[in-house]
Amino acid sequence: MTDVTFDHASLHARSLDDPEGFWLEAASGVDWITRPKRALDASSAPLYRWFPDARLNTCYNALDRHVIAGRADQPALIHDSAVTGTSRTYTYAELLDEVARLAGVLQALGAEKGDRVVIYMPMIAEAVISMLACARIGAVHSVVFGGFAPTELAARIDDAQPKVVLSASCGVERTRVIEYKPMLDAALARASHEVGHCVIVQRPQCEASLGEKDFDWAQVMAPGAVQPAGCVAVAATDPLYILYTSGTTGRPKGIVRDNGGHAVALTWSMKHVYGMEAGDVWFTASDVGWVVGHSYIVYAPLFAGLTTVLYEGKPVGTPDAGAFWRIVEQYGVAGLLTAPTAIRAIKKEDPDGSLIAEHDLSSLRTLFLAGERLDPDTYAWAHDKLGVPVVDNWWQTETGWPIVANPVGIESFAPKPGSATKPLPGYDVQVLAPDGSPVEPGVEGAVCLKLPLPPGTLATLWGGDERYVSSYLSAFEGYYLTGDSGYIDDDGYVWIMGRTDDVLNVAGHRLSTGALEAALAGHPAVAECAVIGVADQLKGQVPRALVVLKAGREYTDDELLTVRDELKARVRAEVGALASLSDVDVVQALPKTRSGKILRKTMRQMADGETPQVPGTIEDASVLDALGDVLRHHS
Ligand code: COA
Ligand code: AMP
Repeated sequence: MTDVTFDHASLHARSLDDPEGFWLEAASGVDWITRPKRALDASSAPLYRWFPDARLNTCYNALDRHVIAGRADQPALIHDSAVTGTSRTYTYAELLDEVARLAGVLQALGAEKGDRVVIYMPMIAEAVISMLACARIGAVHSVVFGGFAPTELAARIDDAQPKVVLSASCGVERTRVIEYKPMLDAALARASHEVGHCVIVQRPQCEASLGEKDFDWAQVMAPGAVQPAGCVAVAATDPLYILYTSGTTGRPKGIVRDNGGHAVALTWSMKHVYGMEAGDVWFTASDVGWVVGHSYIVYAPLFAGLTTVLYEGKPVGTPDAGAFWRIVEQYGVAGLLTAPTAIRAIKKEDPDGSLIAEHDLSSLRTLFLAGERLDPDTYAWAHDKLGVPVVDNWWQTETGWPIVANPVGIESFAPKPGSATKPLPGYDVQVLAPDGSPVEPGVEGAVCLKLPLPPGTLATLWGGDERYVSSYLSAFEGYYLTGDSGYIDDDGYVWIMGRTDDVLNVAGHRLSTGALEAALAGHPAVAECAVIGVADQLKGQVPRALVVLKAGREYTDDELLTVRDELKARVRAEVGALASLSDVDVVQALPKTRSGKILRKTMRQMADGETPQVPGTIEDASVLDALGDVLRHHS
């Protein structure tokens, strides 16, 4: 197994020179049904597979093996709900019991290995139980973030074609209870795919009315009601889950994660990237609907025998900006992973850190931040107030685990705020010029990963290798295109500067301009529209819309206000509340290239007060000039 006395440089070099040896060694951190004799299968390059001859069960690695090894009574999962004022701890034995029973329920409902199960849940323990139960029987889960509206849920249901949907009666937000069941029903009515059954967790905050195909979670899970299911052996290359993420188009991409590479990489990362050992308490404040939640609320901490905290609440307002610190103290958290936005929200409410000082945070060894750029101010504030290392890590839904980080479990580098530090073992990060040649240190370009990607990264896209190849592998032969722009400095530190495409990042949540634009375009008054992500002090970016209304009609100011309100409401209803538009500007025309591509990036640069890059192919520069004042003005 990799040795912590190894330095990062030699580990990184070995991972690239001898990926076979490196990852076969790391594979000893996983319990296999059939141990891998080979690591990398390059026979279908540029599509690679890891551990092609091995078999395992992911749930066994997350739960059973720890119970067998004597951790039965160790807390595995702590569900802390600030919004309902409750907390419940599941030991490894208790969590295994729940998961095995739900796995039995799924089998009784006809779900088998390879079948899909959609999970649409708030941050409750049942969400984790659902994911692990699918893994136990080899079913492929697809968790849809609870904040997504029915249209988005329906699109994912149609793509994944699940046999069963697992959901809950409601989510509890800071200010209100959100009924999930009507949204699920609306999505099912909208989807063309016919779902067999739904199992609904009835929460005391609001009971859902159940239909013919629905089952009450408590009833089907009652002791004796179902035969618990054992672990089903799957190939390492079989899919564990599909997680949809946003591209530029309105059609989400289903990232496919395998079982074997995922278990190896995440187990390895918990120790080497995050410096955690079995028995440590780990708290990821994110959502199970995002990759950070999949990897670091659920799978990695459980693979590694940690105790993981599932928090239902916000960083502020539930009840105050001390919520995270209360959790760290109460459960003895050693590692906290969250998004920079959460820290910015806490900083805004408690700039002096007085709520930090009120808590005993002596258990906390490191704060990890991911999901969006960590700005130097937020880094400095967190470091100063918490007095522990603050570690930025850069990755994406596609990779499933960090690409670039300060690997505290191997070696700690001097931080350079604004940089996520160095490429981790397994990743050959290169910055390329538009012609595909590597650029000099310090020169910005497209950040790419030389193939093959390490274990745990996406195997393909659900529904077809062609889309995977055309979306990620075609821009530069032999490289995976991350979609981010950045540079590597003379010391080998990687600096990520932003997306090269039109993907939005709002409070660490990835949203597609296409989905928001589709919602706007459905309004009868809209002729054309564009959404851009403009800089926001709290959320990093917020979406802003520019719309051209259909000709042939004059609008009064009041009518324009109504149209704006209707457009904002449409986006909330069609995509979700977290996609709320900051501004809607009615304009005469949108700037385009001669081939009709809307110049979103140029408009975004103008809105953010940067020098705009205007392509030579612009169709009519006066259109852009006319937008200058509008874009510079924020409401
Ligand atoms: N289900 C239903 N609705 C949800 C939801 C969910 N799971 N999550 C968010 N929403 C709704 C909120 O209720 C809110 O609705 P409102 O406009 O009607 O009040 C809207 O979506 C926006 O929510 P949010 O982004 O949470 O904004 P906020 O202003 O309420 O809170 C922060 C601001 C900074 C506290 C919040 O954005 C936050 O916690 N950010 C951290 C994000 C994070 O952890 N990202 C993880 C990526 S790794
Ligand atoms: P997601 O797939 O939702 O995790 O979003 C991934 C995208 O978020 C990346 O492609 C980056 O654009 C951005 N991102 C994530 N983490 C960081 C980070 N540490 N620094 C800069 N950008 C980040």
